Amino acid sequence: MENFTYCIPTKIYFGKGQIEKLRDIVNAYGKKVLLVYGGGSIKKIGLYDAVKRIVDDCGGSITELCGVDPNPRIESVREGAGLCRENDIELVLAVGGGSVLDCAKVVAAAAAYDGDAWDLVVSPKKITRVLPIATILTLAATGSEMDVFAVISNMETNDKIGTAHEKLRPVASIMDPRFTFSVSRYQTAAGTADILSHLFEGYFGTEDSAYLQNRCAEGVIKTVLHYGRIALENPEDYDARANLMWASSWAINGFLEAGKIHGWTVHPLEHQLSAYYDITHGVGLAILTPHWMRYILCEDTAGKFAEYGRNVWGIDGGRTDMEIALEAIALTEKYFHDLEIPKTLTELGIDETYFDAMAEKAHDGLSHPYVDLTKEDIIEIYRQAL
Ligand code: NZQ
Ligand code: ZN
Repeated sequence: MENFTYCIPTKIYFGKGQIEKLRDIVNAYGKKVLLVYGGGSIKKIGLYDAVKRIVDDCGGSITELCGVDPNPRIESVREGAGLCRENDIELVLAVGGGSVLDCAKVVAAAAAYDGDAWDLVVSPKKITRVLPIATILTLAATGSEMDVFAVISNMETNDKIGTAHEKLRPVASIMDPRFTFSVSRYQTAAGTADILSHLFEGYFGTEDSAYLQNRCAEGVIKTVLHYGRIALENPEDYDARANLMWASSWAINGFLEAGKIHGWTVHPLEHQLSAYYDITHGVGLAILTPHWMRYILCEDTAGKFAEYGRNVWGIDGGRTDMEIALEAIALTEKYFHDLEIPKTLTELGIDETYFDAMAEKAHDGLSHPYVDLTKEDIIEIYRQAL
């Protein structure tokens, strides 16, 4: 196992009624609050009113940054940073899905930065001071509630880039699974695919010595496979929503990847689809993942995919690693189809027009992937996904 440093200081308030802990967060970190949210789902579920009531009770004041788009835009970040400066904001409170959380994180960093906020997306090293960030999560998917990442889009240049800094980790996150009951079938399926992809990105690697992390990852993958279906069938199944929510955090908070060294592959490929076509992140991942798996399957990787097939899907019997690997990939693809996620890029209106430019940027985003890919390989994976 490789050396690692492990520290997750985010305080999690998980479960029914934990919204009341917002009182403690405001009292601890600051009463001048920037409330960041999206297109209004938090109003429909009563969360907006609850947040206002609690901040009021604490004697605090709220400034709002609303209308954050899925695939959050740099323009929202700039606006939020300006609001922080004008209103002496002390605490940035993100209430929503990953897009809202990611936007809020970079707002909190840009508030104390003299230059343009986009610099902090492109060069995380420029992040120095960051206002305290707290989150109230309403969609189980990205793990942004407990991780160091934020992904921001610049639609003018077709760039979607992930930045990362320890200081972007929220100081506290409130996670009441009931806030996710209202998430649509489409977003529930996309979120499930996103969590699975985070797990796959860490799991498929060469470090067999990280036995503990690999077995834990298989447990989280099985949990997500199991409860993703249930949440789709019964959106108000508390245990399904709770398990997905907690899995979303653990898929990407650093624990399962500790001691492993390789970088991610499918995410850089998908981010280009979102950057050029503004598609839902988890949907792009679900379409690309089985194609990526088949593309990199060879004698060298068959053992790892067979391990996945045996330990996650329970495939056994007197078959070769290659046969088990192929069945595991087919089952993974079928699972995404069962969630009613579109099967092809063509269904999303994507064609070959930008494959060259997208593959170039995706290739630049690869850093020591499990199996190295050339630009031509990436174009071929996109083609196979059409
Ligand atoms: O905008 P509102 O009205 O809130 O509606 C949202 C949005 O339309 C809706 N929604 C959220 N909670 C809801 C709800 N609708 C009903 N009831 C609720 N409780 O869902 C839609 C999608 O929201 P969004 O936040 O975009 O989804 P998600 O959480 O999947 O976030 C996706 C973004 O996160 C990035 C993605 O690239 C994408 O930009 N990622 C962030 C990561 C991170 N920070 O670590 C890692 C991921 O790999 C990912 O790249
Ligand atoms: Zn993701």
